[in-house]
Amino acid sequence: MVDKNRIKIFDTTLRDGEQSPGASLNEDEKIEIAKQLARLKVDVIEAGFPIASPGDFEAVKRIAREVKGPAIAGLARARKIDIERAYEAVKYSDRPRIHTFIATSPIHMERKLGLTPDQVIEQAVEAVKFAKSLCNDVEFSAEDAGRSDPEFLYKIFTEVIKAGATVINVPDTVGYTQPEEFGALIRGIRENVEGVENVDISVHCHNDLGLATANSLAGVLNGATQVECTINGIGERAGNASLEEIVMNLVTRKDYFQKEIGIDTTQLYPASRLVSRLTGFVVQPNKAIVGANAFAHEAGIHQDGVIKDKRTYEIMTPESVGFPGTKLVLGKHSGRHALYERLKELGYDLTNEQLNLIFSRFKELADKKKEVLVEDLEAILTEEILPKVPEKYSLEYFQVVTGSTTIPVATLEIAEENGLLRDASIGNGPVDAVFKAIERVTGIKARLTNYVIKAITGSKDAQGEVSLELEIEGKSYSGKGVSTDIIEASAKAYINALNRYFVK
Ligand code: KIV
Ligand code: ZN
Repeated sequence: MVDKNRIKIFDTTLRDGEQSPGASLNEDEKIEIAKQLARLKVDVIEAGFPIASPGDFEAVKRIAREVKGPAIAGLARARKIDIERAYEAVKYSDRPRIHTFIATSPIHMERKLGLTPDQVIEQAVEAVKFAKSLCNDVEFSAEDAGRSDPEFLYKIFTEVIKAGATVINVPDTVGYTQPEEFGALIRGIRENVEGVENVDISVHCHNDLGLATANSLAGVLNGATQVECTINGIGERAGNASLEEIVMNLVTRKDYFQKEIGIDTTQLYPASRLVSRLTGFVVQPNKAIVGANAFAHEAGIHQDGVIKDKRTYEIMTPESVGFPGTKLVLGKHSGRHALYERLKELGYDLTNEQLNLIFSRFKELADKKKEVLVEDLEAILTEEILPKVPEKYSLEYFQVVTGSTTIPVATLEIAEENGLLRDASIGNGPVDAVFKAIERVTGIKARLTNYVIKAITGSKDAQGEVSLELEIEGKSYSGKGVSTDIIEASAKAYINALNRYFVK
């Protein structure tokens, strides 16, 4: 019998989240995120889609081996070959799960699969039976359940439970349903599916109409015991339900939902920052729970209220989600020990060797900048400690001549395994000239599809952080670069994206 009062958090950042255009992560980056998800104490990590590529397979296998605590799930279409491959990867976990799916909406069955509803049930049952012969924990998803006939869903879910499924998942694949409708769908499943009391009912909502969190919570109110979501809500198209929003709704409004969860909420902000840094996806400042402004009070009346009593305008504390309290970190005269303590508060427990590395970078920066803030430290950590994309290219030197009466010219030198590459180019502006020069030296044709520059901190001496996306041979690659010089940050970001192209 499933405990109806305990909601399991199923994180799919590394599978559905990684399907976001431009979000490709390498194996080391996936491991780093999976470890943070374990610190967050999610119940299940969906680590990838093992049949999709050898890289996906290896990443799922490594996560299953190295990350302990949560169950590790691998996705598989309702086909023997996919299921075998998924099991080959997840079997190294102490708690392996096979997650198999087939579409159940009329449009998907007819137009995509070319199967009748009876054939879909048959294939689903066969797949679940086969998965069950390999692994005790089997999740079945009815893709596009949000647009499926509820009667058909009752039938297919009843059959897959008989075949051995331990979780039945109800995805609103295209983010089409409204909270009341979705809640009613879950209620109908709870009331009409045979054997449903012995399995978890799971919800998996996409955000095409901005309702993913609302729909997931409507599911919980109507009997769902598992919610599938991603850090920062990343995922296909408009993304998935955001994990931090689901969790903090359940925690902040426990009086309303009356459900237990196992999450360590103080790890939410570090998880959000890590995913943002490694995917290159900037979190909007007004994003609920983890946005930079989520706990900022601007209006005088609000500030006055907060000074008198924080509860006037704060429904949860920044500390409860791991939001760094004070922004000021350290200055030029701060020592190694103070740096170590501050990093620990931010959730980074470094070895001596790592600390030495970060300390010398910190000193260099403190010479250029009066105050070194949390965001500066995170940028250094990303560059020095977090897994690096193997560097086929690295920027050695650049020079730009620009002005209102000259044509911008960039000269640069890039190191690669066979030595130094050197060239120059003109451009519409200094950044464009640098990008064109990089294109000339590397010979790689890339289309810049996104370019965002922001100051990491608010002051005049702030470091600039550039996030960009390049399209190369029809695929998207993200890159990031940080420097006190914004042209250098742009060049580094461009080269970082090129290096990701070589990893794939
Ligand atoms: O959105 C969806 O339908 C999915 C399934 C594979 C669960 O991601
Ligand atoms: Zn999905």
